[in-house]
Amino acid sequence: MEKIIELSNATIEQGGAVVLSEVNFSIDPAEFVYLIGKTGSGKSSLLKTLYGELPLTQGTGSVAGYSLNDLRKKEIPFLRRKMGIVFQDFQLLMDRTVIQNLYFVLKATGWKNKAEIHSRAMSVLQLVGIEQKADQMPNRLSGGEQQRVSIARALLNDPKIILADEPTGNLDVETSTEIMELLLALTKEENTSVLMATHDLQMVQKFPARTLKVDSGKVQLS
Ligand SMILES: Nc1ncnc2c1ncn2[C@@H]1O[C@H](COP(=O)(O)OP(=O)(O)O)[C@@H](O)[C@H]1O
Ligand SMILES: [Mg+2]
Repeated sequence: MEKIIELSNATIEQGGAVVLSEVNFSIDPAEFVYLIGKTGSGKSSLLKTLYGELPLTQGTGSVAGYSLNDLRKKEIPFLRRKMGIVFQDFQLLMDRTVIQNLYFVLKATGWKNKAEIHSRAMSVLQLVGIEQKADQMPNRLSGGEQQRVSIARALLNDPKIILADEPTGNLDVETSTEIMELLLALTKEENTSVLMATHDLQMVQKFPARTLKVDSGKVQLS
């Protein structure tokens, strides 16, 4: 079976310093996987390498069929189109409405037809259950709703995988539970894989899944 993520003997570096070494793991289509570990252990650095923000300097890696080796700057936008990225702090554009946030990304990724842009934006809002907020400004939404918008944005180009960096880090337990249920539903209904970095062990316990543990410069499989 084709793997959605594959890292083999990879080294993860940050500012010239090795953060993780001998990293070996793979993720299947539609699989949900946690990445856990203490603050500063290297979870974000690993995700950044997977989305092309940090270079893969040693070993081999691929994401959604795209090689991370010798990735040129020009190729990064193409890699990013195959994945959705979700952050703890949502990173929405606060000076425009929810749906304009989505139009912005679609236009930036090459969509031209206005009717298609609108229809795609509405359909991802429906998928995450907040189509009624399409014309609101982001700062009028709750944290959970803003995270739903950011997940909708991640889904725009029908990604094979969502990389989520502490997506519940700013949310209370009840809202975190809703976001977890949404991410898990995407693996089942859209066949999207999810790799979620978290130190929210309460969610890991509540929604058991395969867990990669980052510790002492290594990634331990389980
Ligand atoms: N921009 C950066 N430049 C240099 N070092 C960094 C940078 N960001 C993080 N680091 C270092 O990389 C290591 C891993 O950090 P990070 O990947 O953010 O861990 P986590 O996400 O698990 O908290 C830490 O030692 C941290 O200090
Ligand atoms: Mg982090």
